[in-house]
Amino acid sequence: MHWKEHYALGHAPMDATHQEFTQLTRQLAKTETAGKEAVATAMEALLRHSEQHFAQEDYWMAESGFPPVQCHAREHQRVLASLQNVLRRVKNGHSALGKTAARELESWFERHVATMDTALARHMRQVDYTPAALPETPDICVR
Ligand SMILES: [Fe+2]
Ligand SMILES: [Fe+2]
Repeated sequence: MHWKEHYALGHAPMDATHQEFTQLTRQLAKTETAGKEAVATAMEALLRHSEQHFAQEDYWMAESGFPPVQCHAREHQRVLASLQNVLRRVKNGHSALGKTAARELESWFERHVATMDTALARHMRQVDYTPAALPETPDICVR
């Protein structure tokens, strides 16, 4: 998965995170023939990134009063659950799932960045919200 110009939403921290997402997804796709351990390591890196990526956006939504916060945050949760499931299966020997996951994540990201993340970036601009760094233990993530 390569970075495309239309992924840039004019929101520097979000764009940087999305660049990292495309790199890690590309890395995962490259492990196709590298064996179970390499696929699991790439999946784990992508999962750790996604937890941080989505928690950061969820925090910005809560902080800036983004109206459809529930819908966007639910979508993040759905993808995280799916990544966790794929990682579990990869560790159980289904390493070919890494390549499939990378392909599916690319088409998911195409839609997500063009809709939900675009709406969030636009909202933060409209309300003139300065994105804050995610606190060490944000309330939103405490369960
Ligand atoms: Fe995002
Ligand atoms: Fe998002």
